[in-house]
This record gives sequence, structure tokens and C-alpha cells, in this order.
Amino acid sequence: MTQALRLGIAGLGTVGVGVVRIIRRQADLLAARTGRRIEIVAVSARDADKDRGVSLSGYAWETDPVALAKRDDIDIFVELMGGSEGAAKDATEAALASGKDVVTANKALLAVHGQALAEQAEAAGRVIRFEAAVAGGIPVIKALTEGLAGNGITRVMGVMNGTCNYILTRMESQGLGYNALFDECAKLGYLEADPNLDVGGIDAAHKLTLLASIAYGTRPNFDGIEVEGIQRIELEDIRQASDMGYRIKLLGVAQRSPRGLEQRMQPCLVPADSPLGQLEGGTNMVVVEGDAVEQIVLRGPGAGEGPTASAVLGDICDLARGLHIPTFGQPADTLEAAQPARTGLPAPYYLRTALLDKPGALAKVAAILGEAGISIDRMRQYGHTNSTAPVLIVTHKTTRAALDEALSALKETDVVALEPVALRIEEL
Ligand code: NAP
Ligand code: HSE
Repeated sequence: MTQALRLGIAGLGTVGVGVVRIIRRQADLLAARTGRRIEIVAVSARDADKDRGVSLSGYAWETDPVALAKRDDIDIFVELMGGSEGAAKDATEAALASGKDVVTANKALLAVHGQALAEQAEAAGRVIRFEAAVAGGIPVIKALTEGLAGNGITRVMGVMNGTCNYILTRMESQGLGYNALFDECAKLGYLEADPNLDVGGIDAAHKLTLLASIAYGTRPNFDGIEVEGIQRIELEDIRQASDMGYRIKLLGVAQRSPRGLEQRMQPCLVPADSPLGQLEGGTNMVVVEGDAVEQIVLRGPGAGEGPTASAVLGDICDLARGLHIPTFGQPADTLEAAQPARTGLPAPYYLRTALLDKPGALAKVAAILGEAGISIDRMRQYGHTNSTAPVLIVTHKTTRAALDEALSALKETDVVALEPVALRIEEL
């Protein structure tokens, strides 16, 4: 058998411990599949005394992950600490500089520094693998870079933050409000240390950045993503959407058109009977559309010890087999700067607001939409209180720019009692 593949693992939290467990449990299976023993040589975390529920005997302990990354008795540096800056970045750079391949689950690091790290890796003849960084246990990076390599990708989209999908589906199934479910997620430990990464859409946007780069051969461009979280979604929106045959999802879409590359992560209405509409709880789904394959749908657990460690092991096994694919599927110096679309592709929009219940209020809203070139498909006034009237409008296809113009004009009127909630209706 070929020489063992030697790992240094930095980060022994949820994912790191999961990786250690699989390597200990499946040592023979991994060796049979790859033709090499996969061995952990050294590990690192902040607290050397913490009981992690798994034996670390036989592994050297490094207090400093950079020192671990530089050890000359490891072949692969496995970065499972997280964060776009600090230890994760320093140690990844040190590993590449000292001739190690890197496996990471860190979407934040690659969304922000992916281009520079990919260039550094290629200059050193090394690779960075990151299957676990996008949609946890779903092997979507492998699907895009390998199985779908023969396709021009027309659209890639998905629900890639399990916490948001858990909140949105429980709002509908339990009739609970956003705040109650946010508190429930905090108690269950579902939220990132900074919860805005989840509910603000940033974590999912990091993941979309990486998918878009592979799909379109562009440099990872997190700043080019239009990001909006789920914090403003109310039970009323969930109910109204459901009445019309839709579900609300935090949906990421990357789509290239003659206008440029459109990348957005925002709550959208999707048909309730579509695969995305039927996605429940913390599960993730990625939909890829290619000019040859048409549409494929990948569904699975997007987080948690087992699923995420499974993806990390997939990368380690590929390296053990000698598979070396450039970080974003093609050489880093061939990735083009993304040309962001100046205006997004038109779509119908859902608008919910409340108007002061006085003569001419509805007419003013209709006139403002008309002046912005927006045609109304459906409009409903319902559930009056003493002084205000909730109003629901579904527009025909329009651009976000036209909608923004109308929303600004609505703000200036004296009839709008509730800042409108405006959600794109995504056609699938
Ligand atoms: P975690 O449970 O918070 O564990 C982080 C680990 O990193 C801990 O063991 C911590 O040490 C160690 N660490 C942090 N800073 C360090 C430093 N400066 N030096 C040495 N060790 C340090 O995180 P996780 O959930 O396993 O996530 C790890 C990575 O996987 C992140 O990039 C995350 O985004 C990604 N990911 C996670 C999931 C998931 O389901 N959890 C899914 C997909 C991707 P101590 O234990 O001593 O504090
Ligand atoms: N916070 C993320 C989620 C974890 O809820 O999907 C996986 O990246």
C-alpha cells in the first residue's frame, strides 16, 4: 500500500470531532477505498483540557494552528476553526506556503479571500478543497466541478441556510412569529455565534459566492451579492404567500444573462409544489440548471457533525486518490472578474403594506406603481382596523429598479401606514 496520508486538524468543535470520529471508525474502509491509510498526526484547538467526547490519544497537540500547519510530518492541513480572518486565514496561508494541501469547511474565509488563496495554492502546486463549506453534506462542489463540467451553467440556486429554513417552515407549520422562533433556534444551538450571519443571509451568501465562482468561472465576489435577511418576514406574509400557493424561502440565485452576473440572496416566494417550496426544516437544497443536463436537484442535510464531516472526508479521500482539481474548478488566473448585472432579470413581486383608510389612498398607490411602469396583477384590501387597511399587491413582471423607484415614492405619500414588505416571486 502507498504511504499513509498524514493529516493535521485545526479545530475540534462540531465538525472537527466528527472528522476524528469517522477516521477512527472507518479506518479500514477509507484505506480500501483510497489505497492509503489516512492518519491523524496532530491536532489543535484553543482549550487543550476540554473533554471532546472522542479519544485524541496518539495525536500530537499543537497550541498554535499556524505551527500545526507548518509541521513537516503532515501532508494535508484540515482547517475546521472558522472565521474569515485570524487563525483560519493565517494557518491556511502557512499550510500552503509550506507545501500542504488544504481541506476546509470555511465558507467565510473562501468567500472573502478565495481568489488570493487559490492563487497562492496554485503557485505552490497545491490545492484547496471545500466541499463542506457549501450545503454541508450535499456534494454540490463535486457535482459542479466534475459531474456537470460539460455544461454551460444557466442558473444555480438554493436554500443553503438550514436555520433560516427551519424558522420559515416553523412559522407556517406552528403559526409562531419570527421572534419566538429566533429564540427557539438560540436555545437549540442552531444559531452561529453572530446570529446575523444566519438570519441576515450572510452565511448563505458566502456559500452562493463559492457556487457562482465555479459555475461561471468568475472570481469569488461576495460584495457583488445583493443580500437581504429574513428578519422582516411576518406570519402574515407566510399566510398570504400560502393562500396564493407559494412558500417563502431564503433563496440564493446566481444567474448569468446578457445583462451580466446576477447574484442575490433574499427571501422570495417560490411555488409551494416545487422541490424548493416543499423543503422543510433545516434541510438544504441546491438546484443547478445546465444547457445540457437541464435541471438537477440536490437535497440533504446542510449542517451538523455527521453530514459536514462526511463532506470533509470526501475531500480527504479525493486527495488520497491523487485527484487535484483547481480550487474553483479552473486555474485561478483564468477566473474573470464578475461583471455584475446593472439591473436584475424582471420578476413578479409580492407587496404587502397598510394604508390609512381614507378616500383616494388605494388610487394613489396604484398611480405610483403605474408611474414606475409597474403593472398590477392582483390587489386585495382586507382585515380593516379602525384606521388602517392592509393591502396585498402582486405585480406583473418588473425590475427591482422600477420597484425601488415606486417604494421610494410610496414613502413620500401621506397614505402609507406600514413600510411595504417587497418580495420577489421566483419562477422555477
Ligand atoms: P465550532 O464547534 O465552534 O469549533 C471551532 C473549533 O475551532 C473549536 O474546537 C475551537 O477550539 C477551535 N478554534 C477556534 N479558534 C481557534 C484558534 N484561534 N486556535 C485554535 N483553535 C481554534 O465550529 P464548527 O461548527 O465545528 O465549524 C467549523 C467550521 O466548519 C466553520 O468554518 C464553519 O463555518 C464550518 N461549518 C460548520 C457546519 C456545522 O454544522 N457546524 C456546517 C458547515 C460548515 P475550542 O474547542 O478549544 O474552543
Ligand atoms: N448556520 C448554518 C446553517 C450552518 O444554519 O445552515 C451550516 O453552514
